[in-house]
Amino acid sequence: MSEIQMSDFMGRVVALSKRRGFVYPSSEIYGGFQATYDYGPLGAELKRLIKADWWQAMVGNRDDVVGLDASILMSPRVWEASGHVDGFNDPMVDCKKCKARFRADKLDESRCPEKPSKQPGACGGELTEPRQFNMMFKTKAGPVDDSAATCYLRPETAQGIFVNFKNVMETTRVKIPFGIAQIGKAFRNEIVTGNQLFRMREFEQMEMEFFCAPGTELEWYRYWRDERLRWWQELGIRRERLKFYEQTDEELAHYANACADVEYEYPWGFDEVEGIASRTDYDLKRHAEVSGRPLAYHDLESKQWIVPYVVEPSCGVDRCFLTILCDAYDEQTKPNGEKRTVLHLHPKLAPIQLGVFPLVKKDGMPEIAERIRADLKRTFRTAYDEGGSIGKRYSRLDEIGTPWGITIDGQTVEDGTVTLRDRDAMTQERVQPEQLTAILLERLAGYDRAKAAIVPEA
Ligand code: GAP
Repeated sequence: MSEIQMSDFMGRVVALSKRRGFVYPSSEIYGGFQATYDYGPLGAELKRLIKADWWQAMVGNRDDVVGLDASILMSPRVWEASGHVDGFNDPMVDCKKCKARFRADKLDESRCPEKPSKQPGACGGELTEPRQFNMMFKTKAGPVDDSAATCYLRPETAQGIFVNFKNVMETTRVKIPFGIAQIGKAFRNEIVTGNQLFRMREFEQMEMEFFCAPGTELEWYRYWRDERLRWWQELGIRRERLKFYEQTDEELAHYANACADVEYEYPWGFDEVEGIASRTDYDLKRHAEVSGRPLAYHDLESKQWIVPYVVEPSCGVDRCFLTILCDAYDEQTKPNGEKRTVLHLHPKLAPIQLGVFPLVKKDGMPEIAERIRADLKRTFRTAYDEGGSIGKRYSRLDEIGTPWGITIDGQTVEDGTVTLRDRDAMTQERVQPEQLTAILLERLAGYDRAKAAIVPEA
């Protein structure tokens, strides 16, 4: 059982992510910058593993989805056609006294900067009437600084997929139904940011547009909802912390006929981590209309050109990263009464999967440890550590989510066996080094997050 108060939880996750080199505030030596974050050595590795896992599940393991890597800067006409130039707005209000700006639809969740425990207006200032604030970042392309040079940093990766629909159809062997997947940066000038990686101005998305025959989209929508929930569980996220929020007809975007958010129970409550939307044929039709290029497929049965419908699972990489950290973080009392902080990361996501420790820096132990490590390195992400007491070395690995440690000690010198220590159960057993790869691969495949938080009896 976790021993942490929910109110402290987020602060502790953020502190650990900084302390252990997962996430740093961007431009920190200049005081930080505008809800942007940098990933440190362990964070960069975890982020890479998340993206690789998503890509494998959405592209590598499937015959009906192909990948794409579109540019961030696109013709501004893309954003006119998609509706972002006119409609990608949040309603904003200003406080006339403290000059702070708030999202008009999130006043309950906002705080007055002069009275941080109270809501906007608590400083005595009057709030202006809401006005629309466009969240796209504008920039200029090319050496001439005039309005014709205006372009945008993409606010979602999806449009790069829609505008390449024809290219992919014509240059690959895909046939409806099929999907195009993409991972990449997106930028939104959010009025309100917060909760570290949860809402930022620069972030990354993993999106897939699945093109299907009109009339089949709700079936595919239900299929992708199930698939995506399965993926979240396979990352090791506890099922009871995940739920779907199905949007009502009033909440649906004008182009969607169904949409569900995958929500995770963060320290502040359930909130969106992924959206699965049935986007109809809106985007392809709009791009065809504005570009003058037909975006359709030839249906062999009806011999007609048909615009496909689209189902889109869209997930934030950074939000997924935060979800994994929140779900893995735990503070426990060990059977000997000592406290420990541990990340119960799924072994497939652990930036370092195996610590290799010589008990002491003599008697040939470092040499044996390096020899054993050289073999294990081929299969696992390993780290060698000979500094400090063995207890301290285990603690360091617990905090970064390393699931296993092996120790080379006096008995290794005598009979060749090593101690295998398990992060979650805190058990130690003696094994032959040649057996390690098979044992660890079996444990990786059978990992169960639900059992990980159980502290063994003293
Ligand atoms: N193409 C559909 C789309 O972009 P969205 O609900 O606006 O839909 C999809 O975004 C996902 O992108 C969200 O579920 C979230 O995980 C992530 N996301 C959106 N805005 C974000 C932000 N400001 N910071 C971090 N992640 C964000």
